[in-house]
Amino acid sequence: MSSALTAALIGIDIGTSSAKGIAVNPDSGAVVAVAEREYPVTSPHAGWMEQQPQSWLAAAEDVLAALGAEVPEFLGIGFSGQMHGLVCLDDAGTVIRPAILWSDQRSAPQCAALESGTGLDRLLRLTGNRALPGFTAPKLLWMRENEPAAYARIHRICLPKDYVRDRLVGGNRCDVADASGTLLLDVAQRRWSEELLTALEIPASWLPELAESPDRVGVLNGVPVAAGAGDQAAAAVGAGITGPGPLSVVLGTSGVVLAAADQYLADRDGRVHAFCHAVPERWQVMGVMLSAAGSLAWFHDTLLRDTDYDVMLDEAAAVAPGCAGLTFLPYLAGERTPHADPDARGAFCGLSVTHGRGALTRAVLEGVAFALRDCLDVVHGVGATGTRGRVSGGGSRSRLWLEIVASALEIPLEVMATDQGSAFGAALLGGVAAGVYRDVDQASAACVRVTEVVDPVAAWIEPYRDSRRRFRDYYPALRSVR
Ligand code: XUL
Repeated sequence: MSSALTAALIGIDIGTSSAKGIAVNPDSGAVVAVAEREYPVTSPHAGWMEQQPQSWLAAAEDVLAALGAEVPEFLGIGFSGQMHGLVCLDDAGTVIRPAILWSDQRSAPQCAALESGTGLDRLLRLTGNRALPGFTAPKLLWMRENEPAAYARIHRICLPKDYVRDRLVGGNRCDVADASGTLLLDVAQRRWSEELLTALEIPASWLPELAESPDRVGVLNGVPVAAGAGDQAAAAVGAGITGPGPLSVVLGTSGVVLAAADQYLADRDGRVHAFCHAVPERWQVMGVMLSAAGSLAWFHDTLLRDTDYDVMLDEAAAVAPGCAGLTFLPYLAGERTPHADPDARGAFCGLSVTHGRGALTRAVLEGVAFALRDCLDVVHGVGATGTRGRVSGGGSRSRLWLEIVASALEIPLEVMATDQGSAFGAALLGGVAAGVYRDVDQASAACVRVTEVVDPVAAWIEPYRDSRRRFRDYYPALRSVR
């Protein structure tokens, strides 16, 4: 990180565990300041995940103030954030209940009813996507059935980063990239699906006005503010993935393989998320696994709380690839791609007395890599062509994990100068809104740099093909004994 203070672009990411803000030098892309404020997730019932929108706003205000103390001038501001979360506001703009987050699984029955009632084919035709409990519309249907009094108070709904941005700069907007994850957008046409809204009896007046991600939608203390994007689209922009070319590979709490395209791509069976990109007239397809670095964090916090991650990773590095037949299924919170199964569960399979804790750790790293390979295969299956990945997310700081993922995906992985992912992409969108750049392509050309390439380890490719066959057989086998 350069310490030179200058006029900077600001990116604010409203994440699941914290709001993170960065200041970026618009000429070099160097990150010149970082600030972060955490907030809690509450889980009032098994499978429920909620957060107070007011805590996002307070954290974002703190982060902006902290950056303001370090950077003399803001040129433009962009927001990114956790996708899909349902925020409900009454006619005074007051939050009605805690936000229901992307990781919340309560709406599985509403998803099943939505797919059978509306019809899966019609849903795929109207939105490009299946009904998954993570998405916003099923959460709203859950609320209608289970909290009718709160539902009756709804005047409008919005997504997490839009709540924060609207409160700071006014307006009622949502970019089409983030709106894609509501299951209410006609992704191909980049507009709300009136047909689906009518079928679900959801008033169109509840929805925000649509924008493209780099659109200027307001000003904060005189500084232009972009509409911004959902975190995955923003992370892709931050990695320079603005169109066909390299894939975004994210090792965050959730794991993602994303391809950008210059046309609408979708899967007939809805196995990929088919979304608008944060770049006008471009789209993206994405495979999402729910517990990537989240699996490693669970393993550490549950079994090795007093052990440093570095020690765990050193122990894992000493174990041969394939872990002598030990396989980890990372379905700790259900799974989206490729199973679309909120009831999928994790497992260690093939344990023997020869396995020590290094093998358990390595099996977690490998299981996540195989699940990412499942994501890659469905992304390639709909016609995306990328043969290189660009990595971001906390897990990408481990060289061992990157080698394992590169070997399982069988593609090289590029490491970027900054691992600030979504916040970095958001800052670039802020730069376009402010007129610092002509468009998102120019912003990425000015600021995104690859610093290292991690190639697949040749000797691991065959063992991983073997391990993957086992990995793929376990899920259907275990599903039948539920
Ligand atoms: C994407 C998704 C997650 C959240 C996490 O579809 O659900 O990536 O946005 O932040």
